[in-house]
Amino acid sequence: MSSNLRSARKFLVFLGKSLFSILEALIFGLIPKPRKNVAGEIVLITGSGSGLGRLLALQFARLGSVLVLWDINSEGNEETLQMAREAGAMRVHAYTCDCGRKEDVYRVANQVKKEVGDVSILINNAGIVTGKNFLDCPDELMEKSFDVNFKAHLWTYKAFLPAMIANDHGHLVCISSSAGLVGVNGLADYCASKFAAVGFAESMFVETFALKQKGIKTTIVCPFFIKTGMFEGCMTRCPLLLPILDPEYTVRKIVDAILQERLYLCIPKFLYLMLFLKSFLPAKTGLIIGEYLGILESMEGFTGQKKEV
Ligand SMILES: NC(=O)c1ccc[n+]([C@@H]2O[C@H](COP(=O)([O-])OP(=O)(O)OC[C@H]3O[C@@H](n4cnc5c(N)ncnc54)[C@H](O)[C@@H]3O)[C@@H](O)[C@H]2O)c1
Repeated sequence: MSSNLRSARKFLVFLGKSLFSILEALIFGLIPKPRKNVAGEIVLITGSGSGLGRLLALQFARLGSVLVLWDINSEGNEETLQMAREAGAMRVHAYTCDCGRKEDVYRVANQVKKEVGDVSILINNAGIVTGKNFLDCPDELMEKSFDVNFKAHLWTYKAFLPAMIANDHGHLVCISSSAGLVGVNGLADYCASKFAAVGFAESMFVETFALKQKGIKTTIVCPFFIKTGMFEGCMTRCPLLLPILDPEYTVRKIVDAILQERLYLCIPKFLYLMLFLKSFLPAKTGLIIGEYLGILESMEGFTGQKKEV
């Protein structure tokens, strides 16, 4: 075959695949994508002792999954375990793990592999926030933000991805934030760690594609503020476009995105428009929009006091 013919063939295949993927996305934009069955899947949720992690555990309990719950807070995690049992979980295992410590992650991961089996859905959800202007942030707290919000994802992937590759089956879920897509004042270390988490999860998605591991899926979740207590005191000036999210609603959306194997989930939908505008508007216009939406003042009332969900 001449090189021209080969190039033409390659181009036609590329065109066909691209059009098919766009058509597929359009169709599934109109009709809901079928949800996968997660009964019997081993689902590991980090930060399951409260907030989103706890609610995710309850949802997966109702879907018949085997639950592996990790949290640094043993008491909260035990409570989640009891609640998951009441919600119908047949097999649920709670482990105390400081996800910000690599040795702890590897140690507990080995225990899980021996006692429960190969994790097939990994939900990196544990997170912390400092909530101070950059120069007021103690170095140790900034390091901790990176350890928990980002570096823990590296260690959990290292621990659980090999079995997913061997089985060509798995799902990697990154709970990031809208602060992982757009910089926010008063959240520099948090934003940086959440941007890193998005960049890592997206790169690993591309890596699994390049290695033709079609059975391994990725979902990257970027929500705005949620009423879990983590961002207690934070405000929105535009509740219509950027509402403070209800945790139950957020978790329903996250589970739905996982079951539909969606790559990205931003909540609320207005965040997609913000990202689009950010990609071409002058930076100054972006700041004017941020000022108008009250984003620059959103951290002003931050107390971070936690409430039980
Ligand atoms: N609440 C929000 O407004 C909001 C918005 C966007 C994204 N998020 C993200 O959602 C995720 C869940 O947050 P949430 O709102 O449920 O907060 P939360 O504080 O209720 O839950 C976080 C959980 O992580 C656990 N955790 C903290 N450090 C840990 C560590 N070193 N090792 C293991 N577990 C640890 C905590 O004990 C807690 O149970 C976080 O990653 C957060 O950054 C939250």
